[in-house]
Amino acid sequence: MIESVNLTKYYPSPIKSLFDLKSLRDFLGKPREKIPALIDLNFKVKEGEIFGLLGPNGAGKTTFCKIANALVIPTRGNLYINGYDSVKEHDKIKGRIFTIFGGERDLFGLFQWRVSVEKNLKFIAELWGISKVEAEKRINYALELLNLKDKRNEWYQKLSAGMRQKVYLALPLIIQPEALILDEPTVYLDVFTRREVWNAILELSKEFRTTIILTTHNLNEAEVLCDRVLIFNEKKIAEGKPKELVEKFQALKIDRKLLIKLKGKVEVDDFTGITEKIKVYTQNGFTYLEIYIKQDYLKDILTVLTNYDVIDIQNEAVTLEDVFAHVRSLDSYVNSKVGKKS
Ligand SMILES: Nc1ncnc2c1ncn2[C@@H]1O[C@H](COP(=O)(O)OP(=O)(O)OP(=O)(O)O)[C@@H](O)[C@H]1O
Ligand SMILES: [Mg+2]
Repeated sequence: MIESVNLTKYYPSPIKSLFDLKSLRDFLGKPREKIPALIDLNFKVKEGEIFGLLGPNGAGKTTFCKIANALVIPTRGNLYINGYDSVKEHDKIKGRIFTIFGGERDLFGLFQWRVSVEKNLKFIAELWGISKVEAEKRINYALELLNLKDKRNEWYQKLSAGMRQKVYLALPLIIQPEALILDEPTVYLDVFTRREVWNAILELSKEFRTTIILTTHNLNEAEVLCDRVLIFNEKKIAEGKPKELVEKFQALKIDRKLLIKLKGKVEVDDFTGITEKIKVYTQNGFTYLEIYIKQDYLKDILTVLTNYDVIDIQNEAVTLEDVFAHVRSLDSYVNSKVGKKS
């Protein structure tokens, strides 16, 4: 189980120069400005659950992952991993938690560059105290699952960034930690590789009951993988099952998204009373509209559009991505009327 209790992190703002008066005052003891990264983050993740931390750039996702590994000390609050404080009792959880930072960042320097994939994996398995026979079995299984069998004898150095990311993903399958933290595990991966990685993550949760926290910008990824998600930007914004969040959004009388392309300009006033959620942008003489609407109002919208030279209309169901895009206005939106019939 993983539990975040009032987890808060403020970074001190950097001292720019001692010759600048303000920085000098900072240096001499005046409290320095603080950069908020996490503010009172509370949540619980059960054993075997996949929990998504979703937030825009700078929301505090990597900071959370670093606190889980005692690489950053929280300003206040605690993160408990299987009952142990991730920072104060780091020694007790060191072997039981595994973290993968996105991209090529082998932050812990586990891989030797001029050594084959297999030898690297065997060495790391040995570090984790796994017997040779068991390691062999697990390595075969992981390479098979991640479609990496043909890279077994390749030097780690010769792999592409995406392949390296997959090799890194082989580690939790071999080590089988109790808790796994994944910081943007599929960043830079193409759609096919991404699916292989998703497969491995689902396997870890299903087969080994690994408790997984993953951060992502990819809302589709969160919808496919996560049992529950927390949307945050320093502070919590919303939490729930991806489907529930989409339903909550739909309950606000918005269940469709229309993407419309038309020639010329548009009078936004024409849409007043039908929808309040409308985004307009123009490019090369065309106007593009993004309209969130309840299906019932489709007819009204189409009536308005007869006044325009419409080139294309796409009618899409609302996804978690839309919830994410509008979530900041969710609360104020609950009380506002959307559409004249509501
Ligand atoms: N070492 C540091 N010193 C000062 N400020 C920092 C430091 N590390 C992060 N920050 C700040 O803390 C905030 C959160 O950063 P963090 O890297 O945790 O965000 P993130 O959600 O991982 O972003 P991204 O999606 O871009 O990876 C940002 O405002 C960032 O500038
Ligand atoms: Mg990050």
